[in-house]
Amino acid sequence: MARRRIGVWLIGARGAVATTTIVGLIALRKGLVGTVGLVSELPFFAPLGMVGCADIVIGGHEARAQPLAEVADRLCLEERLFATDVLAGCRRELAKIDKNIKPGTVRRVGPRIESLADVRVRKIQETPREAVDRLRADMQDFARRQKLDDLIVVNLASTEPAVDDKTLSRRWSQMDKRLSQPRKCILPASALYAIAALDAGFPYINFTPSLGSAPRAIQELAQLRETCHVGADAKTGETLLKTVLAPMFAARNLEVMSWVGHNIFGNMDGRVLDDPANKKTKVTSKDNTLKHLLGYQPQSLVSIEYIESLGDWKTAWDHIHFKGFLGTPMKMQFTWQGADSILAAPLVIDLVRLVDAAHQRGEVGVLKFLASFFKAPLGVREHEFSRQFQMLVDWAKGAG
Ligand SMILES: NC(=O)c1ccc[n+]([C@@H]2O[C@H](COP(=O)([O-])OP(=O)(O)OC[C@H]3O[C@@H](n4cnc5c(N)ncnc54)[C@H](O)[C@@H]3O)[C@@H](O)[C@H]2O)c1
Repeated sequence: MARRRIGVWLIGARGAVATTTIVGLIALRKGLVGTVGLVSELPFFAPLGMVGCADIVIGGHEARAQPLAEVADRLCLEERLFATDVLAGCRRELAKIDKNIKPGTVRRVGPRIESLADVRVRKIQETPREAVDRLRADMQDFARRQKLDDLIVVNLASTEPAVDDKTLSRRWSQMDKRLSQPRKCILPASALYAIAALDAGFPYINFTPSLGSAPRAIQELAQLRETCHVGADAKTGETLLKTVLAPMFAARNLEVMSWVGHNIFGNMDGRVLDDPANKKTKVTSKDNTLKHLLGYQPQSLVSIEYIESLGDWKTAWDHIHFKGFLGTPMKMQFTWQGADSILAAPLVIDLVRLVDAAHQRGEVGVLKFLASFFKAPLGVREHEFSRQFQMLVDWAKGAG
């Protein structure tokens, strides 16, 4: 049987997470690095026979023109995310992949993201329908030219300001009509990319807290095209710890009175999140888990501050004030220091391989068994990390 060959289409393809994912895929293919950090390499998932890293080709959409090699240089030489011999081994391929990256859309992404976009992308004049048609054609063209068995679309673009989804059409037929009415269509870029992917039958992953495929009408589109999708907002650091630790407080019947989390970092994601409208989307996604995990809402605060000198190295400091037997108050504090893109990139690769395996097995709609990867898992109320992970293991047992 011929080896399966798939594509990954990265939206925000020249961002830090995307570039680290690309470097990682090339380095894995060339045997320059091992598989530490990849969930999909755990023995539970071997029976799935997932696509290998050597059989994944890369393309995408971007709003900025900066070459991939320059972004990779910065991540390696300034941020010290990976070794210089890894960078040297990837250089030639980065230049080739750059040619597969097309101009995206910055429709309704808010002024902060727009200000970072290339003028040529900002000036594209098109209706939402024309944007969807153009984006879908880019994806389909890539899949055809590269003779791919499937194309998995991953949103890795900057976090957009929140959209009130109560004001959106609930049926796909209505939303579809609105795409031709620019004044009435309030969908941001992330939703247009999701529509483009799903309409073509390609699976879609929303790694960000932006709207993406969350609206009911877009979920209906996925069902109609018999394809799958998942999101939202990958769980890589502080929230991952929260969803491990909060169940411990609940199981010991310790009352959490307050949970404060301060996050400081200085990469471009942080610069975008420094805008209050964009920050609100992220804080909501990070702050919603405690009530689910504890069964009540303690006083909580999540702050995200842009501190330029820290670059991609995020520090999260959490202070948990809890009450024990005889009403005695106690405290737990932790400090998490991680390289954001190094935590995120392997999860992108895992999600691509797992979503491809699910699509091949005919799964349609939201892939709930992938909840452990997300802060705000679509269609899932379970937030406890160990239970979410068990959902993944159980699915793999059934599917393998
Ligand atoms: N790093 C993590 O641990 C982590 C965890 C969860 C979620 N995320 C989310 O992943 C996303 C990427 O993070 P990052 O650190 O790579 O950010 P980044 O700012 O380095 O990269 C984002 C890229 O998206 C591009 N972009 C913005 N809007 C676009 C559009 N409409 N179309 C095409 N390209 C667009 C930007 O030009 C930039 O190159 C962010 O939304 C972030 O919140 C990251």
